[in-house]
Amino acid sequence: MHPLQCVLQTQRWGPLASVSWLLLRTCRAHSNVPSTACPSLERQQEDGVRKDFSSRLASGPTFQHFLRSASAPQEKPDMEDPPPYLTVDELLGRQRKVYLETYGCQMNVNDTEIAWSILQKSGYLRTRNLQEADVILLVTCSIREKAEQTIWNRLHQLKALKTKRLRSRVPLRIGILGCMAERLKEEILNREKMVDILAGPDAYRDLPRLLAVAESGQQAANVLLSLDETYADVMPVQTSPSATSAFVSIMRGCDNMCSYCIVPFTRGRERSRPVASILEEVRKLSEQGLKEVTLLGQNVNSFRDSSEVQFNNAVSTNLSRGFSTNYKPKQGGLRFAHLLDQVSRVDPEMRIRFTSPHPKDFPDEVLQLIHERDNICKQIHLPAQSGSSRVLEAMRRGYSREAYVELIHHIRESIPGVSLSSDFIAGFCGETEDDHLQTVSLLREVQYNMGFLFAYSMRQKTRAYHRLKDDVPEEVKLRRLEELITVFREEATKANMASVGCTQLVLVEGVSKRSATDLCGRNDGNLKVIFPDVEMEDVNNSEVKVRAQPGDYVLVKITSTSSQTLKGHVLCRTTLKDSSAYC
Ligand code: 5AD
Ligand code: SF4
Repeated sequence: MHPLQCVLQTQRWGPLASVSWLLLRTCRAHSNVPSTACPSLERQQEDGVRKDFSSRLASGPTFQHFLRSASAPQEKPDMEDPPPYLTVDELLGRQRKVYLETYGCQMNVNDTEIAWSILQKSGYLRTRNLQEADVILLVTCSIREKAEQTIWNRLHQLKALKTKRLRSRVPLRIGILGCMAERLKEEILNREKMVDILAGPDAYRDLPRLLAVAESGQQAANVLLSLDETYADVMPVQTSPSATSAFVSIMRGCDNMCSYCIVPFTRGRERSRPVASILEEVRKLSEQGLKEVTLLGQNVNSFRDSSEVQFNNAVSTNLSRGFSTNYKPKQGGLRFAHLLDQVSRVDPEMRIRFTSPHPKDFPDEVLQLIHERDNICKQIHLPAQSGSSRVLEAMRRGYSREAYVELIHHIRESIPGVSLSSDFIAGFCGETEDDHLQTVSLLREVQYNMGFLFAYSMRQKTRAYHRLKDDVPEEVKLRRLEELITVFREEATKANMASVGCTQLVLVEGVSKRSATDLCGRNDGNLKVIFPDVEMEDVNNSEVKVRAQPGDYVLVKITSTSSQTLKGHVLCRTTLKDSSAYC
C-alpha cells in the first residue's frame, strides 16, 4: 500500500470548484512518537494498539469508503457506525484533555463551541490550561496574511511543548481547524510535521475519527466542503456560563465572490440552517436567562431556508435598490425577514442583533421590522469596502458608491436614530489617490458610529489574485489605512457626541475593565457604555434600592463620549419592555 492514502475530489459545484480533500496518511517517520518500546505500560498498550491499527489500516479504508463518506448530502459520521478501520472504542476521547484556541471572527468563536460540543459528546474533557492538554486545537482564520502568520508563529511555540513532553504522558496531538486548514490543506502537514490533524470548517463532526487516527501516530485530514452542513443539530456549548449574550449561527458560506475575498474558498457555498432549529436554540438560550442573541453568518441577511418544500415558490427576492449579485437570482425559501420576525418574538426581553450582512440584502420588510420591534437593535453593519465606484467594480461588490449612499439615506429614513458601522479596505489593486480620497469622503459623508478598517492583503485563489495586480506599495496602503482610521475616529466622535444628554437603555455586562467602581454595558447601537456602580431604583418597585447585575437593563444618562465609548450615570433599573425610545 502506498503510504499516502489520499483521495482527491472535485467539489460538487461549478465556478468555485477547487479541490477538496479527504486525506489520511502514514507518517511514522515524521511523528514525534518513537517506534521503540516505551517504558510506561500505557505506552506499551498504545504501541500494541498502533500496530493493530496499522494492520487494519493496511487492509482498509478503501477508495469507495472515502467516496461514500463524501457523497452529497454528506454522510454525517456517526459514533454508532465507525469506519471499518476503527472500533467504537477508538473513537472515544477516553478523558483526553482538549485545549481550544480561537482566532479570527465571531463565526470562529461559534465554530469553537460546535467543535467542543462534538468532542465533549465523544468523551473528551476540556481544559483551559495549556500545560495539561493532551490535544491542542487551533481554530484558524485566513482572511489576511497577518492572521495566518499568527498561527505559524503559534505553531512554533507549540512545537516546543510537543518535543519537551514527558514520555510518561500520552503524546500531545495538535490540530488546525477552520479556514487555514481549508486553504492550505496538506501544505500545513508538510510544513509543520508536528501537526497531527486538519479539519476544515465543514468537517468538525469528523473530529473524533481524525483524533482516533492521530492516536496511532498518523496524520489525518478532512477538508471536504459541504453543500448542506449547518451543524443544525449541534447545540454549541456556551463557553462562559455567566455571559449575558450568545451567538447563534444561522447560515454558513458565501456565494458573493468579492474579488479580494478568500471566504468562499475556505467556507464554501451559502447554506442556511432550518428556521425551526434556530428558534429552538434561541428558546433554550432565553430559558438559560441570556439577554442578547446575535444571529451569525458570513452573509447573515442572505438567509434562505429552503428545507420546507411549501415555501419554495418561484418568487425571486428583492435586492436593495441599485444592487446586483454575482450569481443567478435565487428563488423561494424562508427569508431573513421571516426569521428575524420569529426570533424577535421568542422573548421580548431578549435583544436581537445580526452580523455580518451584505448591503444588497436589505429589502424594506427587514428595515420595517428593525424599526418596529423594540427588541431588534437599531444597529446595522453595512460593509462598504470602498468609496470609489471604480474600485467597487474591481472588487465585484455589485453596487456603486451612489447606490450605497442611497441605501444609507433610505435606512436612516426607515429607522430614525439607527447606528451604522462598516468595513473598508485600503490599498486594493489599482486604487489611486483619488479613489482613496473618495473613501475618505464617504467616511465623512456617512459618519459611521463604528468601523473596521484593513489594509488589502492579497489572497491566492481569489479573482483579484488571478486577474488584478497588487500594485499599491505596502507603505502607501498603511498610510492610507492610517488616514482612514483618523477620519473614521473624528467622524465617530462627532456622531457619538449627539448622544450626550440622552438617556439610553444599556444591557449590563459586568465590572468595567478599567475601574472596579464602574460597570460597563452596551447600548442599542452596540457601543460600550461605562457608568459608576451605585445603588438605583427599580422601575417596577421604587421601594427598594438595587445594584445592577450582569444581564440587567438600566437607563443611563450619557454625559461624555469618545470615538468608541460613552460615559454616563445610571438612572434606574428597568426592562426592555418598559423602556420606550429615549432621546
Ligand atoms: N484583505 C483585506 N481585508 C479583507 N477583508 C476581506 N478580505 C480581505 C483582504 N483580502 C475584510 C473586508 C471584510 C472583512 C471581514 O475583512 O473588509 O468585510
Ligand atoms: Fe467575502 Fe464578499 Fe462573501 Fe463578505 S460577501 S465573505 S467580503 S466574498
